[in-house]
Amino acid sequence: MAFLPLNMMIAFISLIMLAGNLMSETFPTDCNVPPSVWCSSQEIADKCKVLNQCVAWKSRNQLVNFTLYYEALCPDCQNFIIKQLFPTFIKLKSIINLGLVPYGNAYEQKDGKSWKFTCQHGAEECSVNILETCAIHVLEDPNIYVKFIYDLETCMFKIQKPEKCVKMVMKHISKRDNLIACANGTTGIYLEHQMALKTNALPLPPMYVPWVTLNGVHSEHIQRKAENNLTDLICETYQGKDKEKYCPGRVIS
Ligand SMILES: *[C@@H]1O[C@H](CO)[C@@H](O)[C@H](O)[C@H]1NC(C)=O
Ligand SMILES: *[C@@H]1O[C@H](CO)[C@@H](O)[C@H](O)[C@H]1NC(C)=O
Ligand SMILES: *[C@@H]1O[C@H](CO)[C@@H](O)[C@H](O)[C@H]1NC(C)=O
Repeated sequence: MAFLPLNMMIAFISLIMLAGNLMSETFPTDCNVPPSVWCSSQEIADKCKVLNQCVAWKSRNQLVNFTLYYEALCPDCQNFIIKQLFPTFIKLKSIINLGLVPYGNAYEQKDGKSWKFTCQHGAEECSVNILETCAIHVLEDPNIYVKFIYDLETCMFKIQKPEKCVKMVMKHISKRDNLIACANGTTGIYLEHQMALKTNALPLPPMYVPWVTLNGVHSEHIQRKAENNLTDLICETYQGKDKEKYCPGRVIS
């Protein structure tokens, strides 16, 4: 009475066989890891028979996200900007998505509809943090604002006179009036508050400055490597096209 019709039975059996075939073909038995990590090493990619796909996937033109959390008057930050950040930026700007967050160990308090900032190196530091934040916003082009910040930090590192350095660096900057209007008005405060939010949103609050993240991640290793040789760190991380051009002697790994 309740026999399955023969054709349904055959369909059922071939379905099971097909599934078995599919499993063995697309999921080799020694590839016992989920797809999200198939490309995490050459060995796994090889075991999972996706080596070629992984090379293609890795060479999509993914820029390296590098973000520096700092404050304008901290000597270690100045040193980092002068020795590592600027030279690396000049060489590798085409493969870096650079974030600059001039806030550091500052502290903010709501002040009516506005915000009041307190900075580790005093009120002068807050003004320069805000000026650099405004530079990022007003000058827009990283080529221009990174140079502006580098020039300003270099001067302050050398002569420790922020006010004098600001005057000197402002002399030959484009959009000078817009920059002053921002730094001296509510826009600057609003933008600096955004920098506070970015800093406070870090999964691990900065324990010191400069504080760096690489593709959103901070670790002791990343920090040490960035401070020793940022160019190396970026080149090690970059897996995009033209790697040889930007990082001679290095291949996609
Ligand atoms: C900012 O504004 C104050 C008063 O409005 C003025 O004294 C000061 O010179 C201004 N600073 C700049 C950099 O223009
Ligand atoms: C870099 O940041 C952008 C967002 O700004 C994000 O879409 C991208 O996935 C990040 N890249 C890496 C490799 O984390
Ligand atoms: C970083 O390391 C590279 C070699 O990998 C070397 O050529 C370069 O001079 C180093 N840069 C600094 C700032 O130490």
